[in-house]
Amino acid sequence: MSFTIAEQAQARLNRSELAVPGSNYRFIEKAADSAADIVFLDLEDAVAPDDKPQARINIVKALNQIDFGSKSVSVRINGLDTHYMYRDVVDILEQGGERLDLIMIPKVGTAADVYALDMLTTQIEDAVGREKRIGFELIIETALGMANVEAIAGASKRLESLHFGVADYAASTRARTTVIGGPNPKYGVLTDKTSENSEREYHWGDMWHYAIARMVVAARANGLRPIDGPFGDFSDPDGYRAQAYRAAILGCEGKWAIHPSQIDLANEVYSPSEEEVAKAQRILDAMEQAQKEGKGAVSLDGRLIDIASIKQAENLVRKAAQIASA
Ligand code: GLV
Ligand code: MG
Repeated sequence: MSFTIAEQAQARLNRSELAVPGSNYRFIEKAADSAADIVFLDLEDAVAPDDKPQARINIVKALNQIDFGSKSVSVRINGLDTHYMYRDVVDILEQGGERLDLIMIPKVGTAADVYALDMLTTQIEDAVGREKRIGFELIIETALGMANVEAIAGASKRLESLHFGVADYAASTRARTTVIGGPNPKYGVLTDKTSENSEREYHWGDMWHYAIARMVVAARANGLRPIDGPFGDFSDPDGYRAQAYRAAILGCEGKWAIHPSQIDLANEVYSPSEEEVAKAQRILDAMEQAQKEGKGAVSLDGRLIDIASIKQAENLVRKAAQIASA
């Protein structure tokens, strides 16, 4: 282990994160009754410019009046390049009461963007005497943000998570896409011509692999949760599940739901199964026994396990306990 230890962000269940337009009060009420771990009330791209003042009013009212139960509640403010942003932060933090947990900052491009929001948030928290410190969720969704992701991930003690905003990222990088957050059938490889008549196979690739993997590393190196963003086709649960699994396998801890039907899918993919938890527990037991016998590695079910296996197993068991206590 390095002498530098990454401080872990505030622990919070983040398997599913439901996006709800702040302009629709009924949707906010429904979201509060959903099974989402986090609900983010949007003031940004799901809200038309003329609706932003009403959306702020709705969100302030919702934060004061709706029972969100044990969910975490976040508000996505507008970007730092707009004049909506300061009003979002001032109104929500001054009038929103103590229920708010997180602010989601879109299109973060540099560490200084986070610094500026940290300053503003700190001033308002002090001025109104807020008791709970607001955490930040950042969306990495521009070429600039991805180029600076390592610096951004270490920019404030308020940071909890980095989110891959695939729709804006595609626009910013001018990637060619078919469905938001989905694969593109033209992104793949054709197997080599091995002989005159051999069949060649076409293998689809994941065009988002580099971006997600890079964001995961930056997040984990700074003790933050990496979260995968939207999948646009809400009539395709299989497509959603596949994209959610591939991000989970790379280390993500959850995924956005842009439609209520995607909440259960995210919760399913990002919860360890009973089998996985039982296996992790067996690894911990076997390693405890090995350590008593002075061994660093042993075999379990014909496979080598060592000290590194303990950490993976502990992560899994800790996650299961977190879910059980939610
Ligand atoms: C989310 O905001 C995205 O752009 O995908
Ligand atoms: Mg976006």
